[in-house]
Amino acid sequence: MNSKFSTILAIESSCDETAAAIIRDGRKILHSSVASSTLLHAKYGGIVPEIAAREQLMYIIPVITEVLRNLDPDANQNYKTIIANTIDAIAVTQGPGLIGSLLVGIETAKTLSFITKKPLIPVNHVIAHMFANFINQDPIQYPAVSLVVSGGHTELYLMKSAEDIHWIGGTLDDAAGEAFDKTARLLGFENRGGVAIQESASKATSHQMVKIAKLPRPMLDNNNIFNFSFSGLKTAILREVNTLKNANQFNEHTINQLAYEVQESITDVLIRKTLHAAETHNAQSILLSGGVSANLRLREKLISKNSGYTIHIPPVNLCTDNAAYIGSYAYFRGTPTDWGDVTAIPDLSVEV
Ligand code: KG4
Ligand code: ZN
Repeated sequence: MNSKFSTILAIESSCDETAAAIIRDGRKILHSSVASSTLLHAKYGGIVPEIAAREQLMYIIPVITEVLRNLDPDANQNYKTIIANTIDAIAVTQGPGLIGSLLVGIETAKTLSFITKKPLIPVNHVIAHMFANFINQDPIQYPAVSLVVSGGHTELYLMKSAEDIHWIGGTLDDAAGEAFDKTARLLGFENRGGVAIQESASKATSHQMVKIAKLPRPMLDNNNIFNFSFSGLKTAILREVNTLKNANQFNEHTINQLAYEVQESITDVLIRKTLHAAETHNAQSILLSGGVSANLRLREKLISKNSGYTIHIPPVNLCTDNAAYIGSYAYFRGTPTDWGDVTAIPDLSVEV
């Protein structure tokens, strides 16, 4: 186990969140700061890379200085001294992500490493998500099956230890978060698709239901393969939306009903596949992580299965993008790399 770098300054800038955190021994958050440009993108119907990158530039220094200042308020904002005296290594997201966004975090981290001579640890953002389960939680019992569900990824891993992680399946097309976001837009929600579907679904009431087609549960019939496919959902929802509009029945009640169905379809598939992977690989525990693991219905369904596995789910604020799990990953499985050799890799493989 890598225990050399007790206190790590971690930086995350892969998409539309800019974040910094200071992590102690991979498990304790000393300080964390997250800025987001999510709302700025709403009117464009998706994240605009150019806008995301410009916002990263605006926020990167403020989030880093905030966590350093909180770490040592007496240091009179002498950040170089704070890093020199208290930080053992710097971790940064290397990919996957948007090139313009990644570069902001990478170049900032490289500069800090260059000036302070602290080791630099590049981090795989998607695999790092699962390390949110190492923060303030009981130690993981191995083997574990780990589902990472975010805006761009739906990946299943078999973990034999923090260092020994194998990819066992993933989405063939849209990610689960993308399915939430795209269907949310079809239902008229511009912002924060997953959260909007969750809220709308919670208002669905059975006595107001109109007849709608049951949404597909893609790839469930092929139980031996731990792959996912969510792109068909948006076609199914589009068809229902058009039918309801033609019948003059597209209203708040039917939107809530459709949101409920979308959430049930996505969470059913995620849970069935994960439980099947756990059974196949004789897992002791199941780990959930990534932005979609903030979904309350997904969390509730997995826990209520009483499957016998120990279930680990991060608190909601550690599911969506932040730098705490970047620091935890760096502690448990990071490799210090000369700053001159660290580059942003937008399509960094998640199939380890
Ligand atoms: O991990 P994350 O913050 O960023 C990426 O690495 O992609 O994940 C963002 C995704 C978005 O698709 C968002 O809609 C989804 O997580 N999400 C949710 C919820 N909160 C965030 N999906 C369903 N229910 C939620 N409560
Ligand atoms: Zn993420």
